[in-house]
Order: sequence, then structure tokens, then C-alpha cells
Amino acid sequence: MAARSPKTSASSIAESGQRAAARTDTSAGSTTRTTSFQVWRGSGTSGRLETYTTSVSDGMVVLDAIHQIQSESASDLAVRWNCKAGKCGSCSAEINGTPRLMCMTRLSELDLSKTVTVEPMRAFPLVRDLVTDVSSNFRAKTRIRKFTPRPPDAPDGTWRMQQSDADRVQEFRKCIECFLCQDVCHVLRDHRLHEQFVGPRLLVHAAQLEMHPLDVLDRTSDLKQSHGIGYCNITKCCTKVCPEHITITDNAIIPLKERVADQHYDPLRKLVRLMRGKKTVRSEIERQKSGGAK
Ligand code: SF4
Ligand code: SF4
Ligand code: FES
Repeated sequence: MAARSPKTSASSIAESGQRAAARTDTSAGSTTRTTSFQVWRGSGTSGRLETYTTSVSDGMVVLDAIHQIQSESASDLAVRWNCKAGKCGSCSAEINGTPRLMCMTRLSELDLSKTVTVEPMRAFPLVRDLVTDVSSNFRAKTRIRKFTPRPPDAPDGTWRMQQSDADRVQEFRKCIECFLCQDVCHVLRDHRLHEQFVGPRLLVHAAQLEMHPLDVLDRTSDLKQSHGIGYCNITKCCTKVCPEHITITDNAIIPLKERVADQHYDPLRKLVRLMRGKKTVRSEIERQKSGGAK
């Protein structure tokens, strides 16, 4: 049994893997070929890569191949999935060393002359085989203070806001909580600072709340202290793996870092904040940014 280390590179394992069997069959109209997969089997901190071969054809995704391996030769292989449409965020794994959704990774995108490796996300504790325990992300979410709107603007209980302000947070709402960004982030994956740093997914969530035109809370102290935004050194790895193409670093993390710097390191703002209270200063800043409108 090999120990499961977060620093083990799946791609290096793939490079040293066997060549796939080369049989190709086009007799049925669509091309099929026998392909080798190395799939992580084990639980807890130990396990190993097991080699399986299966017949794959045009249009299949990695999740199809895993299901086929399950039905043909490994009925006890644990894999989590739900929608098979890239929307539930359940089938996250590391395919040839890269965090990806199994249901959205076409086999035609991979080099099938080499063995394809499929491993669980390494930033989270392994439950079994390809299934990891991602509950730390849900616990981190509870630490982010909830949406808190200002009182309604009109007697009928409705609010008024600029369309551009509403549009700004729409991108963040696309998140499917696949946690691939958390998996690739070196602060969590290599340094295991899950308690000190909420990670890119939760910073997207915090940005969604902080930039919401109706929200009145100031979370900059939380971001600086308990959420650990200072651990992020803007490597942008999280943005590169997001299947929803959310611009995590540029549109969420950097603006949050700027807010933290404005509120906590600008000496004038700090003085005003101390004298008048952070909510008042924050509302003034927001009012100035929106051109003085309420
Ligand atoms: S940009 Fe920040 S949050 Fe994203 S992967 Fe790099 S360190 Fe982690
Ligand atoms: S931000 Fe993107 S990568 Fe991260 S959890 Fe959401 S959808 Fe997945
Ligand atoms: S099964 Fe739902 S995202 Fe892959």
C-alpha cells in the first residue's frame, strides 16, 4: 500500500505508467479502442493505483469509463456523481494530475496512447477510492457572515439598485461548489491550512456578499483575520481550473484584498473608522462609489 501524500504528483505517476493497449476497432461505425486506466483504490491515508482496461468509444467522458470499469471489473469502486452535466459539482477528481470534473472531461481530449490516471482530490481527506470528505468547505462557509440587506427602499418592501451593481455579482453565483479551486490551491493542498484559510471558493462566496448592492455588513476584519485572505499570493491556479470560468482571482480575491487594505492599512480611513465606526465609513465609501445615490 502506498501512502497518500498531498504532494504526490499524479502526472508523474501517469508519465511512468504503462502504454495503453493499442487495439482499435472501427467495425461498428464509431471508433472504439481498448484503453488503460489507473484508478486510485484505498481509504484513509493509504491506497494504490490499480490498472484497469476497458473499451472506450467516441463521445465518452471519463465518468463513463469509470462507470464501465465499475460494471465490468470493480463493482466496489467508490465514485461520487449526480448530474453528469457539469452542474452538481460532485464528480471532481484529478485526471492525469489535473483537477477536473470527470463528467465534463472527454476522453478525446486526453492522450489515450498513455494510461489515464484518475485520482481523488488530494486537498481533502480520502473517504474511499475516488470519494473525498469535502465537509471542511461547508464548515468554512458557516464562518462567513450571512447576507444582511439594508431596510427596504420603498414602502412596498422593495429595493432599488443599479443594474451594473447587480450584474457584478452574477458571475459568483455560477459556482457549483465542485471545490476544484480549493483542491489546486497550494495553501490548502500543500500546507493544509484549512482552519486558517477559507480558500478560493469561500472567497468567491464572501465577494458575492461583500459586493452585493444591498448588503450592509463589513466583512473586511473577518477576511483579514479568521478567513486568512493574506495567505493568498495570487498565483491564479484556482482560476485556471474553475469549470464555470469564474475569474476567481481578478474579480473576487483581488477586489477583496483591496477592500481589506483600504479599511485596515490606509491610515486616514483607519482613523475615521475608529472615530465613526466601520459600518458608517463603509456606507460612505459605497455611497461615493455609486455617485452619491442612496
Ligand atoms: S490565487 Fe490564491 S486562492 Fe487561488 S490558488 Fe493561488 S493562493 Fe490559492
Ligand atoms: S469557484 Fe469554480 S472551481 Fe471553485 S468551487 Fe466554484 S465552480 Fe468549482
Ligand atoms: S456529475 Fe455533476 S458535475 Fe459531474
